[in-house]
Amino acid sequence: MSDPGKQTPEPAPGQPTTDRVKGIFSAIAPSYDRFNRLSSMGIDRLWRRRTVRLAKLDSTSRVLDLAAGTGDLTMALARQGRPASILSTDFVPQMLEIGKQKAAAYEGPTKILFEVVDAQDLPFDDAEFDRVTVAFGVRNLPDRAANFKEVQRVLRPGGRYVILEFSRPTLKPFRVLYHFYLRTVIPFLGGALTGDRSGFDYLNESILAFPPQLALSAELHKAGFSTVEWHNLTFGIVAVHVAVK
Ligand SMILES: C[S@@+](CC[C@H](N)C(=O)[O-])C[C@H]1O[C@@H](n2cnc3c(N)ncnc32)[C@H](O)[C@@H]1O
Repeated sequence: MSDPGKQTPEPAPGQPTTDRVKGIFSAIAPSYDRFNRLSSMGIDRLWRRRTVRLAKLDSTSRVLDLAAGTGDLTMALARQGRPASILSTDFVPQMLEIGKQKAAAYEGPTKILFEVVDAQDLPFDDAEFDRVTVAFGVRNLPDRAANFKEVQRVLRPGGRYVILEFSRPTLKPFRVLYHFYLRTVIPFLGGALTGDRSGFDYLNESILAFPPQLALSAELHKAGFSTVEWHNLTFGIVAVHVAVK
């Protein structure tokens, strides 16, 4: 029972909580794709393509896509990587519904399934997948270590965890410009498209609070992955980390 005298402290700016993240994504689901295209000026498609290449899929690969949202990475994996199967998962059903509509038009060889799953607590057997992927999802997890542990468990030995996430631009003048863009243009654009500016303030803060490349790599090593490498894209605005079990 909650103690009425005690108040739950407000989460720090950029700090995810399950309720906060679920609330934001269920509200912005219908506008999410449009916002993505506009805010990244379409570059997010190139980032996803590179992520698929780094996943090194073949026609036998069993892939688990976590925090798959509206399915853009799922569909890029299917079209470009053509693995045997992809299980596309997210904990916000409204986001997954949009992914399902995209998959309905897919005609390739990959079997695509959908399931509502929390990325911090995976309802799968040990070593069930050859690849686990996540695009712009890890940043929203209150407990990254729990996710890394779970992914280790469900990957087969030698399997790859491929993470596409916002990171830290390497050149300082570019970083200053980019942070200005994040703090001003993104909340304005998000507010104009969805009517909810506060969700985009959170998204920006979460990008700024997220560990840079080396620190994330250290966390993955600590979780027990045997090798971790990362690839900076667009001057380090995003990075793809590849962790091998
Ligand atoms: C920024 S979107 C990314 C969606 C998609 N991967 C993409 O690249 O467009 C983040 C997604 O993570 C999901 N998410 C956040 N926390 C989650 C969790 N604990 N378990 C599963 N999904 C989660 C949200 O519901 C949202 O759909």
